[in-house]
Amino acid sequence: MQILLTGGAGYIGSHTIIELDKAGHSVVVVDNLSNSSPVSLERVGEIIGKEVPFIKADVRDAAAMDKIFKQYRIDAVIHFAGLKAVGESVQKPLEYYENNMNATFVLVNAMRNNGCKNIIFSSSATVYGNPAIIPITEECPKGACTNPYGKTKSMLEEVLSDVQKADPEWNVVLLRYFNPIGAHQSGRIGENPNGIPNNLMPYITQVAVGRRQELGVFGNDYDTPDGTGVRDYIHVCDLAAGHVCALHAIERKCGLAIYNLGTGHGYSVLDVVNAFEKVNGVKVPYSIKPRREGDIATCYCNPAKAFKELGWKAQYGIEEMCRDSWNWQKNNPNGYEGA
Ligand code: NAD
Ligand code: WQD
Repeated sequence: MQILLTGGAGYIGSHTIIELDKAGHSVVVVDNLSNSSPVSLERVGEIIGKEVPFIKADVRDAAAMDKIFKQYRIDAVIHFAGLKAVGESVQKPLEYYENNMNATFVLVNAMRNNGCKNIIFSSSATVYGNPAIIPITEECPKGACTNPYGKTKSMLEEVLSDVQKADPEWNVVLLRYFNPIGAHQSGRIGENPNGIPNNLMPYITQVAVGRRQELGVFGNDYDTPDGTGVRDYIHVCDLAAGHVCALHAIERKCGLAIYNLGTGHGYSVLDVVNAFEKVNGVKVPYSIKPRREGDIATCYCNPAKAFKELGWKAQYGIEEMCRDSWNWQKNNPNGYEGA
């Protein structure tokens, strides 16, 4: 199939191109590079041995999007484009609502106008809020999101579900990612956050590489085995492979389908620090800090539905995730900067 990846220059998108290529699909990327570097696509090109067709444009630009659909015969869209920093979304709610909602409205409209009715949407475990059931199944009710970022994901799930309901020719796959970490085994592409990382793994790797002094562990008084927060970390290459499997659902005309993409295993912050130190033989100094506002104690999924219906299952464990995150960071101490 010919797949359009919005936000395809970003962390998850760049890894997904490789899996799509492996499976024999062709790709086109549209990205405004607001949170990514074109170097990621150059490096993906090196890995797959061909140039990645790339259009630098904003998904909110209706004319640019219409042109892409007219130029390429797109069979399905994987919609990664969006702003994703939870804390920043609290500071800049309008920017987050405007970008994430409008980009999706413009995209879906361009798709409809050009007869493309297949979309995979990057949703998030955040839509479960403080989950009512652990491990979280797709039947778990959505919860209250405490930040504008999470609210855009939850609302966009509703928007896309309504579009599918109104026109059953649409196939809409909502993928709820848990906590993606890791990097491609080549060490050539990986997560490249701007400024101080919000997420645990890039913070750990920046401490390990000497860019930051120590990790702050946000709370050790949660109701978890060691008191620190428990999450379902998933290797980004496993997550990328999940998108290829989701295309099979589209080929089978799934209508609306929702899947959790996680490993089903929960690891605490200290489990991750310990695994990272052990696998990589580096120290990660840390100190305990107060809880971070909006954090929950425990979040991990039951990924059985994705296995049963898509044949998808995570292959990598926490050791490989820590190894590959470090391999990327130590080979690219400043990310794509200066590359
Ligand atoms: P990322 O920031 O690396 O990639 C997103 C890409 O979208 C960036 O390259 C950015 O430049 C682009 N973009 C943003 N707004 C755009 C617009 N209006 N027009 C064109 N391009 C635009 O993020 P990621 O980690 O690769 O995440 C991909 C998707 O998955 C996002 O929608 C994110 O919310 C979602 N998600 C991420 C995580 C995570 O922890 N990384 C977890 C759950 C869901
Ligand atoms: C993981 C654990 C922290 C940083 C976020 C979004 C979610 C999704 C994935 C997009 C928690 C602890 C972290 C640090 C720490 N993104 N931590 N020190 O919060 O589970 O999920 O990213 O959809 O929507 O909310 O991920 O990596 O920020 O935190 O102790 O410096 O690590 O408290 O327990 P989170 P995270």
